[in-house]
Amino acid sequence: MRHFLSTAHLDSSQILNLIDRSLFFKKQIQNNQYSKPLLNQFISLLFFEASTRTKFSFEVAAKNLGANVLNFTPETSSLEKGESLLDTLKTLESLGTTLAVIRHSDDELIESLSEQVSLSLVNAGAGKKEHPSQAILDLLTMIEHFGLGRKLKVGIVGDIHHSRVAKSNETILKKLGHEVVFSGPKDLMPKTAHTYEDFPTLVKTCDVVMMLRMQFERHEKNYIEKESYLHTFGLTKKLAKEMKSDAIIMHPAPINWDVELETGIDQLPSSKIFTQMQNGVYARMSILSTLWEMRGGK
Ligand code: CP
Repeated sequence: MRHFLSTAHLDSSQILNLIDRSLFFKKQIQNNQYSKPLLNQFISLLFFEASTRTKFSFEVAAKNLGANVLNFTPETSSLEKGESLLDTLKTLESLGTTLAVIRHSDDELIESLSEQVSLSLVNAGAGKKEHPSQAILDLLTMIEHFGLGRKLKVGIVGDIHHSRVAKSNETILKKLGHEVVFSGPKDLMPKTAHTYEDFPTLVKTCDVVMMLRMQFERHEKNYIEKESYLHTFGLTKKLAKEMKSDAIIMHPAPINWDVELETGIDQLPSSKIFTQMQNGVYARMSILSTLWEMRGGK
């Protein structure tokens, strides 16, 4: 593994190794221990789309590992003078960066650059296609709650069409033998074959109810009525009472309150939304340190 680009590139043992390593780092950090395997290395963060969780959790992860972080700001960089992203990456490499974490609106750009650079690229969200580090932190959250042995039924609900989170989660979960079902407005479902369930059935039968953000900024037209969505495909506190006794609620966040989730859902004991965010640090420590090791520590 020279880059971390896509869930499609990971086999089940690589996925489980990333989870094991995340759990190791979680325990270490909770015991206030820092082994700093990337001491004095430089990691660059290049975010071409807005982010709070992914950007800062990669930054915390890198710093926990001992690395220095370069925060690249596209608007104040020489991209404004016409420099290409490829030349930007080669420049960062010349300055000593070994790992570059990139978020971009283009589905394919990060992967296409990966063959042209010597530094290792980490996909922090590629368009509508992939968000592989989110899928690792989501899996970590599920495994912490249910253990490793249980085969789960995971329901993913909402704006599947525009969701890189849904696609990365589906790939990883199916590789590990879990069942994935979708629900949501017909126009926002993928065009390819998948398993669908009506929303109330999904809520009652799934171990994980993963609600997705309605990605209004990617909508080419009005797909939903914002005011009434909560009562068609949104999770209300009343509906959440229908969930299995040990089922959990997940959401990658940010959240459109009272659109896909009723205000206050995050306070239910079954909500893992803030655990997901916390686990983002450990999952990303695992990803960065694994890549560093795969590079032979240089
Ligand atoms: N879940 C997620 O990717 O959040 P951010 O957009 O804030 O990084």
